[in-house]
Amino acid sequence: MRCDQTEAWQALQTHASHFAGFDLRTAFAQDARRAQALSQSAPHVFADLSKNHVDAATEALLQALARQTGLAAHRDAMFRGEHINNTEDRAVMHWLLRQPEGSLSGDLAAPLKQVHDTLKPMLAYAEQVRADAQITDVVNIGIGGSDLGPQMAVLALQDFVLPGKRFHFVSNVDGHELAAVLKGLKPQSTLFLVASKTFTTLETMTNARSALAWFKAQGGTDVARHFTALTTNVAAAAGFGITTTFGFWDWVGGRYSLWSAIGLPLAMAIGAQGFRDFLAGAHAMDRHFQTADLAENLPVRLGLLDVWYRNFMHYNSRSIGPYHSALRRLPAYLQQLEMESNGKRVDRNGNALPYGTSPVLWGEQGTNGQHAYFQMLHQGTDTVPLEFIAVKKPAHSLKDHHVQLLSNAIAQAQALMLGQSDAGGHRHFPGNRPSTFLLLDELTPTSLGALIALQEHRVFVSGSVWGINSFDQWGVELGKMLARDVHARMVSGDVAGLDASTAALLQRLRT
Ligand code: F6P
Repeated sequence: MRCDQTEAWQALQTHASHFAGFDLRTAFAQDARRAQALSQSAPHVFADLSKNHVDAATEALLQALARQTGLAAHRDAMFRGEHINNTEDRAVMHWLLRQPEGSLSGDLAAPLKQVHDTLKPMLAYAEQVRADAQITDVVNIGIGGSDLGPQMAVLALQDFVLPGKRFHFVSNVDGHELAAVLKGLKPQSTLFLVASKTFTTLETMTNARSALAWFKAQGGTDVARHFTALTTNVAAAAGFGITTTFGFWDWVGGRYSLWSAIGLPLAMAIGAQGFRDFLAGAHAMDRHFQTADLAENLPVRLGLLDVWYRNFMHYNSRSIGPYHSALRRLPAYLQQLEMESNGKRVDRNGNALPYGTSPVLWGEQGTNGQHAYFQMLHQGTDTVPLEFIAVKKPAHSLKDHHVQLLSNAIAQAQALMLGQSDAGGHRHFPGNRPSTFLLLDELTPTSLGALIALQEHRVFVSGSVWGINSFDQWGVELGKMLARDVHARMVSGDVAGLDASTAALLQRLRT
């Protein structure tokens, strides 16, 4: 049943209208167990949800909403390999990429075998490149899901990266990016990974062609050794002249593909065992999502909180605050995960929805954000829930830094909630501003895997309640099509039939 037609939705609306006077400070004063009741441990991740605008009744109603919209059945359908990506008639099985070998029977045994039959040579290749002292630079050419995941993860796990190897990520069709990377490289010591699920993406193909031309122009000859493709479209890669290819399957969405061959740069960076640990961390979160009761299921609690905020509290954005500089690409990664998955205006059957879906995600590493936009979080007119992500143990031994960093994260969460009275003047902080605190003990391949799988599943939960298909992305197609038309017009100068603004801009840029 569509979420807004359920009894729980109506009850949540009533609850929200009574909730208008909710105040976190009062809630803590009245309930000594609040912090405990609104905390949740999951594999490798601890979450303190207690500084959010929820109480026990809110959570109970949200769980009723999950039951009435069939969340558990939808989740189980994904884990059975049903074609829940209905608009593309595909299964959604990125989780299978982290499933231990031989652990499934029935229809899923064969795809799981394929996964491991692909993973093993991929990891062997990663080890081979790691051992190859001549290759010092690995350049990943890909965009969107073929860039953001590996780039975020290689940076996040920089302390595990093999010394002597440098990893570069080129995504943009803007030639400044590729040119800047190529400037420091030599063909004989460079390995290009052309990462594209479809092997048709304009940016990636343009960059790959230029990289190949550069390689040859610089005297490179052994294309087979220096170019590898990561794709579901093995035939197109071969057509491009790349013979070493690691494949994956159409049931892996681009933004969910970090666990597949698209993760090869990460495997090269942290090694085969590191990559297996990364998969194992994610698998532990998969099991938690599959088996924990709704009331104690962290992805479920987070995803339902997202629905509550978006549809009942009307908080339309969520800020991400990773208090760890190695997680500084996480906001960009999460933007694609959430907004490409749940930025939909129709239900699974194509009917327009009367309620909001994906929030806007944005953010920056702490403490940097504090000196930029936190002003607005504390005193602006909008309420923006902030998601802190902190790591208990640092990977460096510099004195004082980490305790300062963590103190700032805690203090910001505290300041947002407590506020400060100043009779309504410029120094007045209203407080009662919500935040979530996610905590990892250490930033390792295992904990990062769990954190990312947690985020994938929380997006699944809200998308499922909203009744949308979180696994297609038709909204990116129109711009791609028009770019082809505009490109042809930029070359020819033909502005016939264009609106006046587009025609004038085009002419201005041509002269
Ligand atoms: O344009 C959006 C998109 O299709 C994303 O969904 C995807 O991650 C990205 O482009 C790259 O696609 P590909 O891996 O096929 O090059």
